[in-house]
This record gives sequence, structure tokens and C-alpha cells, in this order.
Amino acid sequence: MSEAVGHAPEFDAVAAAAELEGAAPREILRAAIEQFDNVVFSFSGAEDVVLVDMLAKMTDRVRIFCLDTGRLHAETLRFVERVRSHYGLALEVMSPDAEGVQRLVSEKGLFSFYEDGHGECCSIRKIEPLQRRLRGVDAWITGQRRDQSQTRVDVPPVQLDRTFSGPEAPLYKFNPLASWRSADVWRYIHDHEVPYNELHERGVVSIGCEPCTRAIAPHEHERAGRWWWEADVKKECGLHLNNLGNHDELIAREHPSE
Ligand code: ADX
Ligand code: SF4
Repeated sequence: MSEAVGHAPEFDAVAAAAELEGAAPREILRAAIEQFDNVVFSFSGAEDVVLVDMLAKMTDRVRIFCLDTGRLHAETLRFVERVRSHYGLALEVMSPDAEGVQRLVSEKGLFSFYEDGHGECCSIRKIEPLQRRLRGVDAWITGQRRDQSQTRVDVPPVQLDRTFSGPEAPLYKFNPLASWRSADVWRYIHDHEVPYNELHERGVVSIGCEPCTRAIAPHEHERAGRWWWEADVKKECGLHLNNLGNHDELIAREHPSE
């Protein structure tokens, strides 16, 4: 495929989202690669491996990284390494700031999130390293899907990320799987013989950190196994806070005259 490298300071995410609505994930990936120079994909070690498979067949220009929170399952870590060797990737593993982790666990112990919510721990173990990795990046690809939770039903194929954009440095977030359902992901995994995390064979559908993830019963929604002691609306760890924001505000920022 064409790999024209461009830079798009005038990129109109609202118009691009309308154009890409319903497009195949590969087309959305291609749009990100063609529009922007510095593109990254955050790979969680779960079903979003389908995007690793697609990217590996398209380009080696997108940097792929994983946030190793220090609390991931051993199975997930092994899976990340399997993906690295299967695709021959230069996969980056981001670690949290050691002092931040040290301070938290010294003051509050290793399981404070069960007492006062996941916000503080996620902010140290996920958000700070993510923020560090996204510095200077133009476009960030994620594996978010609309069918994952009530906070994601409006996820567009591309959007301005209001959480991690700087005043002078917009960050655009591409969600190539936005309109795929879980069944589409699994069909792709089986059809293309993509490696997958063995936890999926043990009833774990949505995979995060070990203490904050559990297997679900057949009738439960996949996010029921994440931070199960908290209300559904709080089930965004900060990576995708954009989903909790006001979409009118996003449109006003991108289309000031409307
Ligand atoms: S979370 O915010 O609730 O943890 P979720 O597990 O649904 O996110 O994953 C959605 C997307 O967020 C993934 O497809 C991936 O792009 C990104 N993501 C989540 N966890 C990680 C991680 N540990 N490392 C890298 N990316 C991640
Ligand atoms: Fe901490 Fe749980 Fe968040 Fe992982 S998911 S960073 S263990 S609160």
C-alpha cells in the first residue's frame, strides 16, 4: 500500500470521523498512517492484538507500546512477549515511575484501590507513563470498541483527544475497531490465526490488571469483570477519559463558528 507520509496541522477530526464512519479497521489505520508522521498504537495484551496483526502487515512505522503497570497477569506478560516474537516487533514496554509507585504502596498498601477507588493507582501506574509516551506524538491508535461499555457507545473512528492534547499540540486518537463487535474481533483472530491471551480461555473477557480483573458469568457484560466493586460510569481508568466528556465541547473546539 501507499505509505505517503504527511503532516496534518489542519486535520479536521470531525469531518474525518464522518468520512471514516463504518470503514474497515484497515482503512482507518491507513488514514492515520497517511495523515500523520508520529503514530503510536497502545497494545493492552488483549483482543486488540488484531490491530497488531493488521499493522504488522501494513507498515513498520507505527510504534507499538504496552503499559506494564507492574500488576498485569503473568499470562499477559507472557502473551506480550509471544506477540513480540511472533511478529518480530520492536515493542516498547513502558514502566511507571518507581518513586510514585513506592510512595503509594508505602502510604496505602498494595490494594488501596479496593478501599478508595482505582483512580490514584491507575493515575500512577497507567496515566503518567502513557502521558510520557504520548509526548510529541501526533496520532494515537487504540483498540476501543463501542460495544465494550456504556461509556464507549459514542466512540468515533477518529477524534481529538482532549485529555492528552497540549494547547499547541493536538493529539488525534484513532479507534479502528470502534464499530466492530466482540464477535468480529474473534472471527478475525480465528480466521487469521492470530495469537491470543490464554486468559480468554478462562472466562476473562476484558483483561486489565490482575487485582482489578475477574472472569465473568455467561450472562454478564464484559466490563462486569473490571473494577467490579465500582459503578459502571467510573469504569474508565483515565486512558480514555475523553469518553466521559461532553461531545458538544469537542465539536465547539474543532468548529468554533458552529
Ligand atoms: S481500560 O482503560 O479499561 O484499561 P481497555 O482494557 O478497555 O482499557 O482497553 C482499551 C484500549 O486501551 C486498548 O485497546 C489499548 O489501546 C489501551 N490500553 C488499555 N490498557 C493498556 C495497557 N496496559 N497498555 C497499552 N494500552 C492499553
Ligand atoms: Fe492499579 Fe487496578 Fe488501575 Fe491496575 S487497574 S493501575 S492495579 S487500580
